[in-house]
Amino acid sequence: MKHEKSKTNSMKEFSRFAYAYNRYNTIQKQVAQTLVKRVVPRAYDTIIDIGCGSGALYYQLQKEHVSMKSFIALDSSEEMLKIHPESTKIIKYCKNFDADDAFEAIPSSLDTLVLSASALQWSQDLDKLFYELSQLGQSAYFAIFTANTFKTLHETAKIKSPIYTVETLQNTIVKYYETKFELKQYRLYFDTKKEMFAYIKKSGVSGGKRQLGYLQIKRLMENYPLDYLEFEVLFVSATSSVIK
Ligand SMILES: C[S@@+](CC[C@H](N)C(=O)[O-])C[C@H]1O[C@@H](n2cnc3c(N)ncnc32)[C@H](O)[C@@H]1O
Repeated sequence: MKHEKSKTNSMKEFSRFAYAYNRYNTIQKQVAQTLVKRVVPRAYDTIIDIGCGSGALYYQLQKEHVSMKSFIALDSSEEMLKIHPESTKIIKYCKNFDADDAFEAIPSSLDTLVLSASALQWSQDLDKLFYELSQLGQSAYFAIFTANTFKTLHETAKIKSPIYTVETLQNTIVKYYETKFELKQYRLYFDTKKEMFAYIKKSGVSGGKRQLGYLQIKRLMENYPLDYLEFEVLFVSATSSVIK
């Protein structure tokens, strides 16, 4: 396993909850299923999963009979990589996808399929990241949470979403890929506000950005008008227009 030292807040949060994560990732699981259903089912030389987590995409690929000679699982969290499936064809890389050397050891090939589900919204440098991904392989499928995730929650708390808008995502991706975009909205219902807020903390979707103090969160729980949380995901089917 290769190691990357610098960690952002969101990475720390993912690591802390690596073991609880499997129980809390309902939406992410649906997202991974939807993403893999779009993948053309054939044998690939290499498949790279960016922000692989505990292996949702690897499991789905097996279910959908998409095979590969080698599978590169890249994540900045060692704890996540530990619970990712292992096999002789799986290579694990502990790397921050924003780091300058993130993809240094990964050879680029036209027959490499690049995948990522529920992770790229945390990139600190979207433009650099999509340029680098577009150099790794010709075909790519991404599922990325948009700023409309937790829309009413952010409006109620009067805070700005910490993640990118659909427009920013699309405008960046089209610089490097020919694309087909699809937006999907999800709702996750809760019996109590307490459970809802526990979910936000444990799911990893809040990215660890502590924008609110304890009292503000308490007030937000009282004022939040919905019994569900909102999610929006941009699905991208992409063909690199710049791969050399
Ligand atoms: C919500 S999880 C999704 C995991 C998996 N792809 C899935 O569909 O279930 C996001 C993953 O992205 C990883 N991640 C977040 N920021 C990252 C970064 N800058 N570099 C590499 N991985 C990152 C986290 O450690 C976490 O495993």
